[in-house]
Amino acid sequence: MTDTFQMADRTVRRIGLGAMQLPGPGVFGPPRDRGEALRVLRRAVELGVNHIDTAQYYGPDVSNELIRSALHPYPDDLAIVSKVGALRDEKGGWRSAQQPAELRAGVEANLRALDIDHLTAVNLRLMGEQGPSEVALEDQLAEMVALREEGKIAGIGISTVSATQFAAARAITEIACVQNAFSLVDQSDAEVLDACTAAGIAYVPYFPLGSAFPQMPKVVDQPGVQAVAARLGVPAARVGLAWLLARAENVLLIPGISSVAHLEDNLAVAGLRLGPDDLAELDGVAA
Ligand SMILES: NC(=O)c1ccc[n+]([C@@H]2O[C@H](COP(=O)([O-])OP(=O)(O)OC[C@H]3O[C@@H](n4cnc5c(N)ncnc54)[C@H](OP(=O)(O)O)[C@@H]3O)[C@@H](O)[C@H]2O)c1
Repeated sequence: MTDTFQMADRTVRRIGLGAMQLPGPGVFGPPRDRGEALRVLRRAVELGVNHIDTAQYYGPDVSNELIRSALHPYPDDLAIVSKVGALRDEKGGWRSAQQPAELRAGVEANLRALDIDHLTAVNLRLMGEQGPSEVALEDQLAEMVALREEGKIAGIGISTVSATQFAAARAITEIACVQNAFSLVDQSDAEVLDACTAAGIAYVPYFPLGSAFPQMPKVVDQPGVQAVAARLGVPAARVGLAWLLARAENVLLIPGISSVAHLEDNLAVAGLRLGPDDLAELDGVAA
């Protein structure tokens, strides 16, 4: 199994880090433990992580500030990937922000906060299937293409897209990566994943462990996952991540974490190979 994959102008290790759990509860406000958040970022890079996924609206303004405080000046090989298309209101609610001027402002806010002049990739985060009042996909992508031509982003990603939207986006411009929800407990996006695999495009599943949102099912709670983990003598999260790595070579991991213990747990997935029996049992979990 390969341990790296190409994303825009970088070759990244397949095991990266999601920065969404670094701010406070509900991805809002300062971290519960700022020292631990900084340690997570520094330890990740020390252990070889060279792909960090962030957003200006995590906090808002918290994840990027932590990344800059922990890691600037950045290692040469570090790929920082962000996303645009949303904003937070004063109570932490999520709002779409998909006008071209908002997308541009979002990219520029990320560059300023991270103190860099270009991002490896920026995901255009859609808000599901578009209704008539939404901004047309072509208009959103036209702005992303302009930002790429100006050198502010090396690659354009697209996030929370249906197979139809993904095909439409690819017909408009080159897509460097796709970020959709996918895990052992939610395989509804298999069609887009398979399309990315066929096209050699990085597929970066979000909610790889089922998310931190309490109402959503968790990979680690599934009896089938726990059974495989017990047999192999490893934590259940590692089994869920190993299953994703085994799913296809273009799958890149960005589990969200807020502790060094979880970071080290998850990075150890590099040493875990699931056998055919394990995979068959886990496929049963998914069904
Ligand atoms: N494009 C998008 O719209 C979008 C949407 C959501 C997320 N994302 C990105 O995807 C990343 C991953 O998604 P996510 O963070 O929402 O969900 P996730 O990675 O599925 O789950 C995060 C949760 O799993 C826990 N966890 C992590 N490692 C663990 C381990 N070894 N054992 C037990 N629990 C563990 C974390 O706990 P601790 O915090 O205690 O470590 C946290 O509660 C995000 O960080 C973000 O960068 C993108």
